[in-house]
Amino acid sequence: MTRELSFNLFEMNTVGHISHGLWRSPQSTRHRYTDIEFWQDRARVLEDGLFDSVFLADVIGAYDGYRGGPETALREAVQIPNNDPLLVVPLMAAVTSHLGFVATFSTTYEPPFAFARRASTLDHLTKGRFGWNVVTSYLPNAARNFGLDDELDHAQRYDRAHEYLDVLYKLWEGSWDDDAVVRDVDGGVYTDPARVRPIDHDGTYFRVAGPHLSEPSPQRTPVIFQAGSSKTGRAFAARHAEAVFVGGTSLNDFAATIADIGRRAEEQGRGPDAVRTLGSAVLIPGRTRADAHRKAEEFARLSSAEGYLAHAGGGSGIDLAAYPPSTRISDIISAGGSSHDAATTSRYAPGATVGEALNEIVRFDRGPFFAVGTGEDIADAIEGWVDQTGISGFNLRQFVTPGTVDDFVEYVVPELQKRGLYRTAYSTSTMREHLFGPGNARLPATHPGARYRGGAHLKEPA
Ligand SMILES: Cc1cc2nc3c(=O)[nH]c(=O)nc-3n(C[C@H](O)[C@H](O)[C@H](O)COP(=O)(O)O)c2cc1C
Repeated sequence: MTRELSFNLFEMNTVGHISHGLWRSPQSTRHRYTDIEFWQDRARVLEDGLFDSVFLADVIGAYDGYRGGPETALREAVQIPNNDPLLVVPLMAAVTSHLGFVATFSTTYEPPFAFARRASTLDHLTKGRFGWNVVTSYLPNAARNFGLDDELDHAQRYDRAHEYLDVLYKLWEGSWDDDAVVRDVDGGVYTDPARVRPIDHDGTYFRVAGPHLSEPSPQRTPVIFQAGSSKTGRAFAARHAEAVFVGGTSLNDFAATIADIGRRAEEQGRGPDAVRTLGSAVLIPGRTRADAHRKAEEFARLSSAEGYLAHAGGGSGIDLAAYPPSTRISDIISAGGSSHDAATTSRYAPGATVGEALNEIVRFDRGPFFAVGTGEDIADAIEGWVDQTGISGFNLRQFVTPGTVDDFVEYVVPELQKRGLYRTAYSTSTMREHLFGPGNARLPATHPGARYRGGAHLKEPA
């Protein structure tokens, strides 16, 4: 049975997210990201385009790993300047009624009690359309912004993230009963104290008394998104995530990772269908093939190699510009030249040289979910990707704002609708129901977060 695909717009509250150099396009309106109207226009277009959600990436530090400082990232607008993604969600919710909002927030730096209330507030204001992209953050500068000398190591970041989520589940699912708010005007009782409780969490990283300050919101727990590619990241996804962004360099890669995530979730007792999987779709549609290829050439012409290198310098911890092009990446890593050995090794082809890596980094046509052509060409490609990988949907990468979304909605959506791969109208209005169907606004009982309902298990270790 063909299932409608989930499409989210891959966004960020900034000028330059991942298509570096494209802010210079004469069509680009990215410089208006500080305006309320910019986000409200986006939201209306996405709801008219029947998207599942706008997915807001985020970083809380500057990319200062390239050429020894943040200068290139500043010049090239590589995710700086950037504003807080959570604050544009209510603006967009005010002018829409179905579009979901997924925002990135890190488990590494701000305390869980504060985020618990912010998330509940957003779930209330959006009437259950809020999702959370859980990250542990990967920029050394972010650590120094929050009082650390350097990043916590990868394993500790995830260990801490598990407890962070556990505290949040206790607050969102366990602290208030569904019927705690009685609003008994005659009796003068707004909330029945017998139906609200502290969580008294006392763990390795956090001590949180509670109760939660927010009354239950439509979804209580926002939809949990995550994008871990390492073993630790995948184990985290299998336990917590309801939607996972899958990385990979080939369709077989994706098929294997998607099967692995399903298996891991099943091992956690969550069932084979508990996790939706999303890839990054790089689509350049046009009225004709020639029109589409003209756009692709224009995007390549505007692409900034320096921008991509500054971006890569952040995550990989290697300042590629500091090495002769013939140097092997593996030699740099074994000589201790990278602060992210695991992530760096997986990022480059085995035996790759600095020169090869530089050429790869600036290319936007890499990765299996890349297509240029008419709407029909692109729908054909998408159908093939889904058949070969079993993927549930895609984050649509933006080249030019507003052009990329306009072209997708005009040329690709009608073709996908003809094939039953894209909704023709919204039939659900919460983010979780967009992914899992009507009646599924709350976490399923098989999800670890549900174990605290009614105040159960609050005193037991996770
Ligand atoms: C599609 C996608 C989106 C991501 N968005 C963010 C983001 O907005 N902020 C962030 O700090 N990390 C982001 N990441 C990085 C991941 O959270 C994660 O750190 C990375 O995939 C490495 O995986 P690992 O944590 O398992 O090592 C993203 C990764 C992917 C694949």
